[in-house]
Amino acid sequence: MGLDNGVRLLRFIFLPLFLFACHARSTPVQRSTYIVHMDKSHMPKAFASHHHWYSSTVDSIKSVEPTSNGHQSTPKLVYTYDNTFHGFSALLSRDELETLKKYPGFVSAYADRTVTLDTTHTFEFLSLNPVTGLWPASDYGRDVIVGVIDTGVWPESASYKDDGMTKVPARWKGICEEGQEFNSSLCNLKLIGARYFNKGVIAANPNITISMNSARDTEGHGTHTSSTVAGNYVEGASYFGYAQGTARGVAPRARVAMYKVIFDEGRYASDVLAGMDQAVADGVDVISISMGFDEVPLYEDPIAIASFGAMEKGVLVSSSAGNAGPFLGQLHNGIPWVLTVAAGSVDRRFAGTLTLGNGLTITGWTMLPARASVVNLPLIYNKTLSACNSTKLLSEVPFGILICDKTQSFDTQLEHVSLSNAAAGIFISDDPTIFEFSVFYYPGVVISSKDASAVIKYVASSNETTATMKFQQTIVETKPAPVAASYTSRGPAPSYPGILKPDVMAPGTLILAAWIPDGPASSIGSNIFLSSDYNMISGTSMACPHASGIAALLKGAHPKWSPAAIRSAMMTTANPYDNTLDQIRDNGLALEIASPLAMGAGQVDPNRALDPGLIYDATPQDYVNLLCSTNFTKNQILTITRSNSYSCKNPSSDLNYPSFIALYANKTRKMVQKFQRTVTNVGDGASTYEAKVTAPKGSVVTVSPEKLVFEKKYEKQSYSLTIRYMSDKNMTVTFGSIIWVEDSGKHIVRSPIVVSPVINVW
Ligand SMILES: *[C@@H]1O[C@H](CO)[C@@H](O)[C@H](O)[C@H]1NC(C)=O
Ligand SMILES: *[C@@H]1O[C@H](CO)[C@@H](O)[C@H](O)[C@H]1NC(C)=O
Ligand SMILES: *[C@@H]1O[C@H](CO)[C@@H](O)[C@H](O)[C@H]1NC(C)=O
Ligand SMILES: *[C@@H]1O[C@H](CO)[C@@H](O)[C@H](O)[C@H]1NC(C)=O
Ligand SMILES: *[C@@H]1O[C@H](CO)[C@@H](O)[C@H](O)[C@H]1NC(C)=O
Ligand SMILES: *[C@@H]1O[C@H](CO)[C@@H](O)[C@H](O)[C@H]1NC(C)=O
Ligand SMILES: *[C@@H]1O[C@H](CO)[C@@H](O)[C@H](O)[C@H]1NC(C)=O
Ligand SMILES: *[C@@H]1O[C@H](CO)[C@@H](O)[C@H](O)[C@H]1NC(C)=O
Repeated sequence: MGLDNGVRLLRFIFLPLFLFACHARSTPVQRSTYIVHMDKSHMPKAFASHHHWYSSTVDSIKSVEPTSNGHQSTPKLVYTYDNTFHGFSALLSRDELETLKKYPGFVSAYADRTVTLDTTHTFEFLSLNPVTGLWPASDYGRDVIVGVIDTGVWPESASYKDDGMTKVPARWKGICEEGQEFNSSLCNLKLIGARYFNKGVIAANPNITISMNSARDTEGHGTHTSSTVAGNYVEGASYFGYAQGTARGVAPRARVAMYKVIFDEGRYASDVLAGMDQAVADGVDVISISMGFDEVPLYEDPIAIASFGAMEKGVLVSSSAGNAGPFLGQLHNGIPWVLTVAAGSVDRRFAGTLTLGNGLTITGWTMLPARASVVNLPLIYNKTLSACNSTKLLSEVPFGILICDKTQSFDTQLEHVSLSNAAAGIFISDDPTIFEFSVFYYPGVVISSKDASAVIKYVASSNETTATMKFQQTIVETKPAPVAASYTSRGPAPSYPGILKPDVMAPGTLILAAWIPDGPASSIGSNIFLSSDYNMISGTSMACPHASGIAALLKGAHPKWSPAAIRSAMMTTANPYDNTLDQIRDNGLALEIASPLAMGAGQVDPNRALDPGLIYDATPQDYVNLLCSTNFTKNQILTITRSNSYSCKNPSSDLNYPSFIALYANKTRKMVQKFQRTVTNVGDGASTYEAKVTAPKGSVVTVSPEKLVFEKKYEKQSYSLTIRYMSDKNMTVTFGSIIWVEDSGKHIVRSPIVVSPVINVW
């Protein structure tokens, strides 16, 4: 298939005007979509199903409030939900909503809202081997089903071939839904389900034409995330023939079911809820969702609500922290019952070499998606031009390699050089965040100011200096790695700061995975678009499916483990050290030591997570106890738990979580926080563990008892941990850890401890 950029561009330009036209037209009654939570125990016996009850409820509102003419004069049911929660979404006016609130069984309602995808760049490119050895090739995922809530899938991608796959587990209830350019025979033993949900988009924009009315991906994001979770082995995956390698998902034998909830025309909570609800009903084991809702309380966050129902059914929901870093307190999906994943780098660099006329060779950074010829061209270093920020000045530059100093941002300079007559650029920069993104659409290399001094010296040495550039080089085992990505969103979680979030970090920067072949994967200059079956992009969207794949492997290895147990195994075995054996650094904070507010417990370590020794488990009632300890109203809590069978008799904010956070407000005083934890021995037989504490700077941490003795497998033991700390006007974040070390040395069970100010961002 060829490129279709003209059409795409047209669509993007056209769409906002079209929407404006819709809204400008005045209608007799203004309606918008509301998501309505109902208490199913109030359903009158006369109704055969929840669907009848909800549709008759919506119909009866119509008779209560008759309205005049027009197509839009009646409220309309959009979806009914019955798996992760009970309720429906409907197009209602404000008056109709007020009427509905008086109905028996009404719990709560809120307006539909739009969701944020967690990719920082969707327009990037690569030249390299796929995922390196952090994840072992494993068949543990064979009968595990991962539901991916995303932009759809490109089913013909080689990553969805089903070679080597056995028959679909009998418990699977999903379908391969027919739609535009998507028939039911496109699913197979790898891609076992595909559905799409856009009633929310249509309800919000009645006259809209859905340009791809099926589960087919038109954006690339869903193809990338789902193939990262569980793509099959693809030999010789590469980008324009560069850097060959075998692409594969983290759980290459797991099954994928795609639930498309994002369309070019919109992305609505009602559709996200419908997709998650259906995934649970279909029988997925893990849900991977690389998107989030910002600035919403838990009881209005569709992902929090749907994932509570999923968790009750034993389905682990793995989600992305968001790309709003490096400022504190901006994280989304900080939901106590889901896995929240931060993004870090991979030990891999894309390089270009710069060889000077005097023979000196310097390795720089480049991601140019082409084999450009830059051979023995003159070097141009002119102080008047070297800010590389003036189109006017650069228009007179002769054909050659322009040297740009470090006064301006790389993005600005690349743009100006690309518009000039220069053949290539040498960009001097010490900003490590450049290496997180792959937009590099004009020949050039980025070199450090240290390396630059040799170049400048050479240029000054003669009037006829030249250089040659080579592109498409890949360097692996670079150090330090991983580093926390500058963009990864930081805790404390605004929606519930009392649980330390994110939970773990996974590779998110420059991840190679399957892409849509008919959309741009890269560009050269401003108007040559390149397509590719594989693309390299960055974001917590890319980190989340790595963690989802590992969760799928763990589910395969330990089918009886609860979602909390799987999350605990991933957290307590995560690695806080990088490949220099130093603490992981933070690319967003000039390579300071990364705090758990950026990376959670550390880099997820799948091999160790298989055998964690001890587990911090939690039941649905434990999460309810946490909700009961908040000041949420009864109905707000019911919106999440949707069942009166839970008791609020034992409210407790002290969830049995494998991490610790003590919060303080901006005033100086002494504070104490005590936590109670219970660990379950999942190692083989008797064992003894001893506590080793590293207290956050300025705090005193005590643990009691300091030794835990287990006689047998699955035995539980409890301990308490107390943090004595000072709140700090400077709003400093300090951190440490508690490590339970088995006396045999076999298991090391680590939990981060953080003392943090409360950050109010909304
Ligand atoms: C939708 O389209 C129909 C037919 O083209 C038109 O009659 C109607 O007014 C439109 N409605 C809105 C809200 O634009
Ligand atoms: C689905 O599409 C394939 C390829 O275009 C075609 O061979 C097949 O007959 C279609 N199946 C159905 C059920 O429409
Ligand atoms: C540097 O660039 C300016 C602006 O184009 C030009 O006037 C000047 O002659 C150049 N200097 C040298 C040494 O080439
Ligand atoms: C270009 O960069 C120079 C040096 O940093 C700065 O003084 C100048 O204001 C910049 N010009 C523009 C148009 O940004
Ligand atoms: C460069 O050229 C100028 C003028 O032709 C000359 O004065 C100068 O010495 C030359 N510099 C070098 C390093 O060769
Ligand atoms: C709950 O507490 C928060 C923070 O103190 C406050 O902003 C909010 O208004 C309270 N909500 C209710 C319903 O009291
Ligand atoms: C803390 O509060 C003091 C006084 O109320 C204020 O001056 C200071 O700026 C605050 N610090 C921060 C980091 O918000
Ligand atoms: C707070 O910051 C000020 C100014 O940077 C510093 O002098 C002071 O020691 C800091 N206080 C604490 C408790 O870290």
